Amino acid sequence: MDATSQRLLMCRPTYFAVDYAINPWMDPSAPVDAALAVRQWEQLRQTYRDLGHTVEEITPVPGLPDMVFAANGGTVIDGKAMAVQFRDPQRADEAPAYRAWFEAAGFEMYDPKHVNEGEGDVLLAGDHLLAGTGFRTAHASHAQLQEVFGYPVITMQLVDPRFYHLDTALTVLDERTVAYLPEAFSPGSQAVLRRLFPDAVHATMADAEVLGLNAVSDGRHVVLPAQATDLAAKLRDRGYETIGVDLSELRKAGGGPKCCTLRLRQGKASK
Ligand code: ARG
Repeated sequence: MDATSQRLLMCRPTYFAVDYAINPWMDPSAPVDAALAVRQWEQLRQTYRDLGHTVEEITPVPGLPDMVFAANGGTVIDGKAMAVQFRDPQRADEAPAYRAWFEAAGFEMYDPKHVNEGEGDVLLAGDHLLAGTGFRTAHASHAQLQEVFGYPVITMQLVDPRFYHLDTALTVLDERTVAYLPEAFSPGSQAVLRRLFPDAVHATMADAEVLGLNAVSDGRHVVLPAQATDLAAKLRDRGYETIGVDLSELRKAGGGPKCCTLRLRQGKASK
């Protein structure tokens, strides 16, 4: 399997905290070790660098504890960047910060007309855009995604509040294959996934409960939470090299490696 070197955007969790609860993982009364969160995040960044990826960073903004979850900052494909609109007011101010970064980086900008939480809910899988809805991203935004990017958009109906973003329930492994938790999807979406990806890896609830599906693949290496041991074994059986990372502190906000990582896809050649 060929690895593609990727251009990634990350945001240091300088102001990370769990001050509010907008998903079932978040408990503002539970202690969070902010310094440990930063060390774990640095480890993730180092893992990407060791794999030969380029990591760019956006400056964290005080008062935005979830800004570390860069995947929610936008959707960037073929040099076009679609900004985001958050469901929850607590995260609203992240949207213009990310938008300004994309604009300064020279991407062609598009503004969202509906709630859209970026790559948290929008995943490019080969020539299809898989788009989640049910908790965050509005179904209406799927039509806009198709219009902006020109890829057929496949709606994925999420049904379990613990797996509120598509990237907590499904990971793209390469152009042809994904791994996912079937129970996180409606019966119709499960049937679509079986049709599109007959060879997909099915994860267990135990893997999903440690956010094991919140993984980042370059087509060969898969960076995933170290606790997702069954999933890692299945991926190795398929020929992938797995790299476990521990993001236990960020998981208290409901995020894992993929949530911390936004893929910046330049032009067609380097998609
Ligand atoms: N606390 C954040 C939220 O609920 C976590 C976001 C995780 N990001 C992701 N791409 N799944 O919005």
